[in-house]
Amino acid sequence: MVTLLGCGTCHTDGALTGNANSKFLLAGSNTGIATSNPLKSAKPGIVFPPNLTPDPTTGLGNWSETDIVLMLRAGEDRHGIRQSAVMPWAAYAQLSDQDARAIAHYLKRLAPVQHQVPTRVREGQASDKPHVYFGVYQKP
Ligand code: HEC
Repeated sequence: MVTLLGCGTCHTDGALTGNANSKFLLAGSNTGIATSNPLKSAKPGIVFPPNLTPDPTTGLGNWSETDIVLMLRAGEDRHGIRQSAVMPWAAYAQLSDQDARAIAHYLKRLAPVQHQVPTRVREGQASDKPHVYFGVYQKP
């Protein structure tokens, strides 16, 4: 399911620019995704797909499977904060509870990889971080 739904396309370093680093499979991307329209803003907001391996400090080590299911189906992190629409939770909301749980179960059993992705860049803030445009410009 994780392969089918393309989680690694965003959450693996290098994958967004066609050069996935297999050592960082699902361990987060240093290339970000712009959240604002390039025709309207020269300094876009940028989000970085986080580390989904169960590393306790940089990944999902402290997330329960239920936390991950909530994120996938409602787009809310475990503090109730709604994530950017760049993470396609609105589409994943269609997942059955069983399938969402299977994904969470799988992620919690990956080998932990320590890898901290850069912090989010606010629109208008100067940044030298590499990023791509997806055409998804909604604000969180
Ligand atoms: C189109 C790119 C993209 C795809 C595909 C994608 N994600 Fe994400 N994901 C993101 C981004 C970007 C964020 C960070 C959003 C934010 O900070 O607002 C994120 C956040 C998350 C988070 C929250 C992690 C944290 O530490 O806050 C989880 C869990 C997650 N994604 C799981 C998945 C899973 C599982 C899949 C596949 C079923 C998936 N994602 C597919 C881009 C993507």
